[in-house]
Amino acid sequence: MPRSPHHLGRRRFLQTASGAAATLMIVPATVLGHAGATPASQRPALAGIGVGGVGFGQLQELEAAGFQIVALCDVDDVFARKAYDRWPQARKYRDFRELLQAEGNRVDAVYCGTPDHTHALIVIAALRSGKHVCCVKPLTRTVHEGRVLLAAARQAGRATQMTAAPHSTEEPRRLNEWLDAGLLGAVREVHLWTNRPVWPQGMLRPPGDDPVPASLDWNLWLGPAPARPFKDRWPAGHYALAQLKANPDWIAQYNGVYHPFNFRGWWDFGTGALGDMGCHHFNPVVRALKLGPPLRIEATATKVTPETAPLASIVTYDFAARAGLPPVRLVWYDGGLQPPRPHGWDQPLPEEGALYVGDQGQLLYSWGGPKLLSPTLAAKARDIPKTLPRRPGTWGEWYQACTGGEPACCAFDWAVPLTEIVLLGNIAVRTGKSLDWDPAAMKFTNHAPANAFLKEPYHNGWSLESA
Ligand SMILES: NC(=O)c1ccc[n+]([C@@H]2O[C@H](COP(=O)([O-])OP(=O)(O)OC[C@H]3O[C@@H](n4cnc5c(N)ncnc54)[C@H](O)[C@@H]3O)[C@@H](O)[C@H]2O)c1
Repeated sequence: MPRSPHHLGRRRFLQTASGAAATLMIVPATVLGHAGATPASQRPALAGIGVGGVGFGQLQELEAAGFQIVALCDVDDVFARKAYDRWPQARKYRDFRELLQAEGNRVDAVYCGTPDHTHALIVIAALRSGKHVCCVKPLTRTVHEGRVLLAAARQAGRATQMTAAPHSTEEPRRLNEWLDAGLLGAVREVHLWTNRPVWPQGMLRPPGDDPVPASLDWNLWLGPAPARPFKDRWPAGHYALAQLKANPDWIAQYNGVYHPFNFRGWWDFGTGALGDMGCHHFNPVVRALKLGPPLRIEATATKVTPETAPLASIVTYDFAARAGLPPVRLVWYDGGLQPPRPHGWDQPLPEEGALYVGDQGQLLYSWGGPKLLSPTLAAKARDIPKTLPRRPGTWGEWYQACTGGEPACCAFDWAVPLTEIVLLGNIAVRTGKSLDWDPAAMKFTNHAPANAFLKEPYHNGWSLESA
């Protein structure tokens, strides 16, 4: 993607503007993670790509953090309508390549909210166009995409962010301080679980095809995935419908086979329940326990079909000892499976969460924050000083980074290895083998067929090299 000669000028202006503001104000607004009184004309100009699903809400968060929404892109005019109505002044596109080409230096930053299989293409194209980039989790669908994306991010040197639940706000920081202080003793085991999927998994492809609505560009939606006919609705009696009906909160809006939302269960487009929720749940653990790449990954699952993630799985990751920390086993459960409850704990576990098992105690961590399972430990925890800086979280941190502040907590240097851990678990699910991982060589050393899942071919003329 060609770089606009005018682009650097505008970015330097933005960074200089925030730097100048910092010298005039005692507490610069950017430190608080939002634009404060910055005039609209000086706020970073943001383009949203994939704006009809979660993107609609996340663009509003980004606007509140200080970005101006100047351009929008979506392949589905009807599904994106609410975003188009919310920002009528934004220039509209269907093809992200046209957006990047046409917007040039009118855009400083790009948000990507498309399904998993197009993240890498869009993010890399935006980085190569010199834009700051924020992408929804999981950052990529394959390990290879992540490696290429990281190289592009390092070369571009722009502000990046992935939208995993942050490890930098009050609750994960408190967890981190407690673990650093040895509150639980040595932690050798962590269990993480989710109630996902709330979309169909474990099925085969429905036969036939449906007409593509004029409002949808199906080929652009498919992007680099193998071509397949558009299928709008499940045939009557298909067992995927029963799964959808089991999740009445979702079925009213998300009842299509692939689009919107239900791409998640299909390996060509999504990453299953682990890929969907793993980055959120792994982020605080990887940070607090200073985890690098796993040594070994093994999975057990309900029936594995070639095309979709299973209904439920348990994935076990083994990590080596790190400086002063013992080896740790991390066990992931999805599809409603959960770890055994801690001895003496008779309350139900939350629908999603983490259980840290230390030599001297256990801790539950869920969306409500960390909870110690013994009053004695809870009393000790109160005396542990707060030492780590608290940051504003996903949107404010990216705003800070785009305006000359420090990198966001889930910048791509962090987000790529985090996503990679998650994605390796899916390969253990798909192969059913215990896999030994060599991160430097980017290969499994004990089961060659598994390596085919690390890098999958791009189709329909797309390639990461020409992104
Ligand atoms: N907390 C979070 O960060 C969070 C929450 C939910 C979803 N997600 C992630 O967001 C992504 C999208 O999930 P969703 O539920 O919003 O999906 P969705 O299918 O509901 O919405 C995706 C949107 O992207 C559009 N789109 C698809 N391909 C496109 C392309 N090539 N160019 C432009 N637009 C395109 C679709 O038309 C749709 O409007 C997934 O990767 C998911 O994991 C993140």
